[in-house]
Amino acid sequence: MTPPTPIIGVIGLGTMGLGIAQVYAAAGFPVIATDAHAPACTSARDRMDQALVARVRTGKLTEDARAATLSNLTIADTLAEFAPCDLVIEAIVERLDAKQELFRQLEAILRPDRILATNTSSIPVRDIAAGLAHPARVLALHFFNPPTAMKLVELAPHDGSLTQYINIATQITEKAGKTAIRCPDRPGFIVNRCARPFYGEALASLAEGRTASDIDAAMLAVGYRLGPLSLIDLIGADINLAATRGMSAAMGNHPRYHVFPALEGQVAAGHLGRKSGRGFLHPAQPGPAPADAAAIALRIEATLINEAHWLLAEGGTTATGIDTAMKLGLNFPRGPFEALEIHGRAAVLQTLIDLRAAAPQAMKDRYTPAPGLA
Ligand SMILES: NC(=O)c1ccc[n+]([C@@H]2O[C@H](COP(=O)([O-])OP(=O)(O)OC[C@H]3O[C@@H](n4cnc5c(N)ncnc54)[C@H](O)[C@@H]3O)[C@@H](O)[C@H]2O)c1
Repeated sequence: MTPPTPIIGVIGLGTMGLGIAQVYAAAGFPVIATDAHAPACTSARDRMDQALVARVRTGKLTEDARAATLSNLTIADTLAEFAPCDLVIEAIVERLDAKQELFRQLEAILRPDRILATNTSSIPVRDIAAGLAHPARVLALHFFNPPTAMKLVELAPHDGSLTQYINIATQITEKAGKTAIRCPDRPGFIVNRCARPFYGEALASLAEGRTASDIDAAMLAVGYRLGPLSLIDLIGADINLAATRGMSAAMGNHPRYHVFPALEGQVAAGHLGRKSGRGFLHPAQPGPAPADAAAIALRIEATLINEAHWLLAEGGTTATGIDTAMKLGLNFPRGPFEALEIHGRAAVLQTLIDLRAAAPQAMKDRYTPAPGLA
């Protein structure tokens, strides 16, 4: 006899929750979902249907698959209806007290061996688990936006999460067509942390007088689909600044997460990128690659490689995991450990040593080579 299909709960039907619910429903899992805001509940089925209809129109989905996905979705009015769930994922407001309170309520409803997952981007998983009767079943399943299109899910257990729950959450998420990459309960998990130098080193080069066009063109020339400044323009300088400030604060204001004045200046001037009509480059495109494009790209990739080695040294992940996460989460053409293979350890180390020597005193530690690289 085949085991019954696990039942998935999704709480919070905003940008992330609705997409997460669709991912599991489309993969054939029964999904029970709710939101504290009544209109978000009443509109959820229609909103999901709109997304499905758009896929049917473009030939990416059959009418039968659309109907099957919707039939797997149950909108609940109360948390009590989550009792049969095997895995509940919360995608509510990013506030520790709200997430803790929700999980406390769910503990009274769910069997103690059912998994509670958080989609938090910035709150330590161990803090969300703290104070629960059964913290061992708590872990993070960090989806990327939009969850339906992005293949990556960062799976971050806290120190007390039990292996059996990690394994079940991995299996269920992979069955839903995602790639679950194990990562430590550290700020920014893998992608949001290891991406910082991509933007930061571009902003450092900008501050030294390079043009946004030269920097982005250099990265395009070595295979990146978007240069770092165009990527900030796409994400929004305000969103990027908030993420950078969050990482900087979480990492004790270490210079590797320096908040560059050029980014703050963009936000202060309202030049947020595509959404405001003007950014570092937007509406322009990068011009031709400059003569020293390879050096610009090596500088940025050397700092990406270094950050990845710092994270690796902290444990809880692997080089392959980091490479996969960076490729899936950011559409990078290669991960930092693959980039190391291309450049060679000696060239990367020398780049960091030269950057460190040239940096002002307060910024020297930005370029200190990580253990495992030096
Ligand atoms: N937006 C992103 O790009 C992104 C990416 C990865 C992770 N996240 C994380 O996902 C979570 C949700 O983010 P979002 O962008 O979908 O937010 P959102 O504001 O679009 O949606 C949050 C939803 O949760 C509901 N809600 C708030 N408190 C609730 C509660 N106590 N119980 C039930 N529902 C409640 C709100 O009514 C809202 O509909 C956050 O933790 C965020 O950090 C967001």
